Amino acid sequence: MKKTRIVIIGAGAVGSTTAYTLLLRERADELVLIDANRAKAVGDALDMNHGMPFVGRTKVWAGSYEDCAAADLIVITAGAAQKPGESRIDLLKRNVGIFEQIVDQVLRFNTNGILLIASNPVDIMSYFSQRRSGWPAHRVIGSGTLLDSARFRYLIGEELQLDSRSIHAHIMGEHGDSELPVWSTANVAGIRLALDDEQQDRIFTQTRDAAYQIIEAKGSTYYAIALALDRICTAILRDEGAVLNVSTLLTDYCGVSDVYLGVPCIVDRQGVREVLQPDLSEQERTLLRQSGDKLKALIQSL
Ligand code: LAC
Repeated sequence: MKKTRIVIIGAGAVGSTTAYTLLLRERADELVLIDANRAKAVGDALDMNHGMPFVGRTKVWAGSYEDCAAADLIVITAGAAQKPGESRIDLLKRNVGIFEQIVDQVLRFNTNGILLIASNPVDIMSYFSQRRSGWPAHRVIGSGTLLDSARFRYLIGEELQLDSRSIHAHIMGEHGDSELPVWSTANVAGIRLALDDEQQDRIFTQTRDAAYQIIEAKGSTYYAIALALDRICTAILRDEGAVLNVSTLLTDYCGVSDVYLGVPCIVDRQGVREVLQPDLSEQERTLLRQSGDKLKALIQSL
C-alpha cells in the first residue's frame, strides 16, 4: 500500500513545530524536512526519531527536493518571518524571491501533489505559488484565516465561558491587518452571539493583532499555526470534506476575483473541493472587497 508522505520545506520554528505536531498525531507514514540549512533539518529529524518509541512508526528524515516526487502534501513554511513591529506584507519582496526557487524545485519532481503555503504574506505567497506552478487552484492552498478564526473562537469562548469548539465564527479576508470578523453568522448551537459592541470590538482587535503581541513577547508564533496546518493536512489526507477557512483563489466572490483570500472552503483529498459563500452583511461584503483590493494592488507590484 502506498505510504503517505508530507514534505515540509522550511525547518524554522513553524516548519519544525508543524513536523512535530504531525508526528505526535501520526498523520503520515513519512515526514521529510527540507531546509537551506541542512544541518537544522538533520538535527530536527534526529531529535524527532529519538522520540519514536514514545509515539509510533513514522519515518522522519532530512531530505531533498527529489523526495517531493512521492509527496501527497508539500507544506511550505520557508522564508523571512515578521520581526517586532513588522507587518506580514513587509516580508513580500524577500519571500517572493525565495519562493521562485522553491516552487521551481518542487515542480522538477512533483506535478500532482497539493501545495500548502504558510509563509507570509500567505495569501499573496499562495497566489504567487499557484501562478508560478500553473497547478489548478484547488491544489494550491494557503493556511489563510484558519488560525485567525481559531483565535476568534478561542477569545469568544473565553468571553462567554464556553468551549471554543462549540463556537462557530469566521474571520475572512487577508491573513493580516485587513481581515474581517463575520459577526452576522457567528453562533452557538445556531443561536446568534449576544455580545455588545465593546465586546465585539475588543475580541476582534485582539484576534487581528494577536501575532504582533506574541512576536513582541517571544519573537515569533509557531504553536497555533502548526496546529492549523495539522488540521488542514488531516482534512486532506483523510478526505474529510471539512469546512476550513483556508486561502483560495476567488472568482466573483462578493465581486472579488483573481486574488487569494481566507474564506470557508470544503477541504478533502483533492484540496479545495468547493468554495463556500456565507450570507454576509453588506458591511462584511464591503470589508471583504477592500481586503481583496488591498492584496490585488500588492500583487500588481510583484
Ligand atoms: C500568525 C502568523 C502565522 O498569525 O502569521 O501567527
